[in-house]
Amino acid sequence: MNFQCLLVLAVSFTVVVAHEGLTARADVPLYGQCGGIGYTGSTTCAQGVCTYSNPYYSQCILGSGTTSTTPPASTPTTTTKTTAPTSTPTSTGNLPSSFRWSSTGALIGPKADSRNIAGIKDPSIVQYNGVYHVFASTAQESGYSLVYLNFTDFSQAGSANQFYLDQSGIGTGYRAAPEIFYFAPQKTWYLIFQNGNAAYSTNPDISNPKGWSAPKNFFSSMPSIISSNIGNGNWVDMWVICDSANCYLFSSDDNGHLYRSQTSLANFPNGMGQPVIALSDSNPYNLFEASNVYNYGKGYLLIVEAIGSDGHRFFRSWTSSSISGSWTALANTEANPFARASNVVFSGTAWTQDISHGEMVRSGYDQTLTISPCNLRYLYQGQVPGSTADYNALPWRLALLTQTNSAC
Ligand SMILES: *[C@@H]1O[C@H](CO)[C@@H](O)[C@H](O)[C@H]1NC(C)=O
Repeated sequence: MNFQCLLVLAVSFTVVVAHEGLTARADVPLYGQCGGIGYTGSTTCAQGVCTYSNPYYSQCILGSGTTSTTPPASTPTTTTKTTAPTSTPTSTGNLPSSFRWSSTGALIGPKADSRNIAGIKDPSIVQYNGVYHVFASTAQESGYSLVYLNFTDFSQAGSANQFYLDQSGIGTGYRAAPEIFYFAPQKTWYLIFQNGNAAYSTNPDISNPKGWSAPKNFFSSMPSIISSNIGNGNWVDMWVICDSANCYLFSSDDNGHLYRSQTSLANFPNGMGQPVIALSDSNPYNLFEASNVYNYGKGYLLIVEAIGSDGHRFFRSWTSSSISGSWTALANTEANPFARASNVVFSGTAWTQDISHGEMVRSGYDQTLTISPCNLRYLYQGQVPGSTADYNALPWRLALLTQTNSAC
């Protein structure tokens, strides 16, 4: 099965290379703007097809769609959002109440080297000084570790060098599900990850992958609220986000609970308090793992990965006016998901039926995890269907979703 998947991957990489060969007379790069009201630049895509997104934005994306900077004739008229009055003053300004996406094929997979890695998973991404920096898990039967790569254009993501972070102070052993951000108060980068505990490593220079410090844990041991609620689950997917006063650490237990603890911005990373349950569901599959929380300007967006009735992974979403506030449903059902194979358009045959653990391409890079609510892009893990490998050895690959129904 793995051999077959490698073949599939080899084919998709060949396609990418072939596309790169066409970029000599390139105009607008992949994912660049190529049309829209007020836009005066080139409408010729170096790669991909110029695709209408909304009246103000057309974008070069990979796909079999027809070249157009005008709306397709069948474009649905803008729906008026009817927001039920609630007691919380949350504004979902510019975030739609339902989402539509297009996806690339698999862009990033394991290198064919002596490590024999089966899957690249759980990406965190930040754009800094014009360079995308991606941190991800490597998975194989023997366990998990971390990898780092960078590129300036997603068309180069598959060929980017992959630096194994066990070659840094992070060291060997169980490390997975990284999150990267710059902690401005200390002028240093933080990598948050799971190692059985919730851990972090720091580095003053994101461009020096050897510079990561030895891991330190946030807690002396698993907090008691987690051990008493975890059942047969796993304590996973640690996620830090800060506002102007506090830093919060979210985590999941694969058993229907999303936890949140906090410390002051001044004290971070020390003093992380006992967690509370931020959100729960009696069906663990509905609130499984891989949470992300972002500041989208008018509030906070939470997405959590669920396992659907078809057995496939997808994302549900909520908003809140504060990180520690209560979460109001946005698009959070199988019928109206944040991101699921059912609201994603693939170019050609869908390469994956799972839309799983990933990260938004942020507009900033610091601890506030700020995103624009417009033209969302989400780097996710998917898997070529049909693998019968054990969970750790599944052929996960990374691909990019681009929102196609941006409200702004
Ligand atoms: C990209 O990654 C390599 C390691 O693979 C590193 O040496 C280099 O400094 C990184 N480039 C940037 C611009 O961060």
